[in-house]
Amino acid sequence: IGDLIGLTPALGWNSWNAFGLSVTDEKVRIAAQTMIDKLSAHGWNYINIDDGWEAEKRSASGEIVTNQKFPDMKATTDYVHSLGLKMGIYSSPGPLTCGGYLGSWQHEDQDAKTYGDWGIDYLKYDWCSYTEVAPKNLTLDDMKKPYQVMRASLNKVPRDIMYSFCQYGMGKVWNWGAEVGGNSWRTTGDITDTWKSMTDIGFSQMAAAPHAEPGHFNDPDMLIVGKVGWGDSQHNTRLTPDEQYTHISLWSLLSSPLLIGCDMGKLDKFTLGLLTNDEVLAINQDALGKEATQAVKNDNYQIWIKDMADGGKAVGIFNTSDKYQAITLNRDENGLKGLTKMRDAWRQKGIIAGAGNYTVNVAPHGVMLVRLNK
Ligand code: GLA
Repeated sequence: IGDLIGLTPALGWNSWNAFGLSVTDEKVRIAAQTMIDKLSAHGWNYINIDDGWEAEKRSASGEIVTNQKFPDMKATTDYVHSLGLKMGIYSSPGPLTCGGYLGSWQHEDQDAKTYGDWGIDYLKYDWCSYTEVAPKNLTLDDMKKPYQVMRASLNKVPRDIMYSFCQYGMGKVWNWGAEVGGNSWRTTGDITDTWKSMTDIGFSQMAAAPHAEPGHFNDPDMLIVGKVGWGDSQHNTRLTPDEQYTHISLWSLLSSPLLIGCDMGKLDKFTLGLLTNDEVLAINQDALGKEATQAVKNDNYQIWIKDMADGGKAVGIFNTSDKYQAITLNRDENGLKGLTKMRDAWRQKGIIAGAGNYTVNVAPHGVMLVRLNK
């Protein structure tokens, strides 16, 4: 293995949850400018265009070209780079993307070269219509193949391009995503902005967890905060504020890429606060690149624990019930013994707890996110 990129999970924005297929050059530029104005000081740096930028036909020589919503992708990329940010793009190994635009099938070398020429830094590669050109009863090798083909094409391009697989967890992709050269891989189907969708995904990541490491991360899908809408009528995320704290805490403990899914032009104060808490982001960006595992689960609450590079632990105490609950963290178990210092990550302050059990009253669907150290 040569040198790796993506040693910590990507921090960025992606157009899909906000705009769906109606993403435009202007919306992308607004996202980039907003990232610089409000977020980049906290580590946010990817501007990722999802589906909807591709033209209906390739050029005469077979090159992928943009549609009228993106008059000049090179110019857009130059603009994003001029701000000091990185640029991501989207394609499919199939003939068509999920949104029905052109995919990279049989044009992988050409497309990888085009991305390199434009200056693209991140590729999300979405299975979609590949099913139509793949063998009927998919073997594991069949599932790996399109990702290997594009890996080989990207390797010919003299540019570091983060490679993000999107195939919804087929064939337990977490077992082989790294071997096939992915920097991250979606582990599930698409998220939507409900408590059920977010927690069905977020609390079911145990099988994938051992496979997270620097350069290779599980991706339980993008953030559903702020103004979302997938291109239809935009609305504020249907998650309550406490559910949003749970979402960001859990995705941080899971070492997930954090891809903001909102209309950045309409970033409100609450969402901004949610995305700029350095102690919370530090849990996501920890150099060890481990993923939290579930230590306690019952009908009313869950506790997830993540190993941190400094020898401490990050712990999420999640109230999954719809009533306030006093939840007790046993500090003699799960490797917590001897970690006597405790800090509340969201509130950025120490907790005087002494030794032994720690009991905290947690809001309905809310979380207490703490760091424990010697
Ligand atoms: C799939 C992916 C989404 C998004 C859309 C685009 O549904 O899972 O994240 O990229 O395709 O069409």
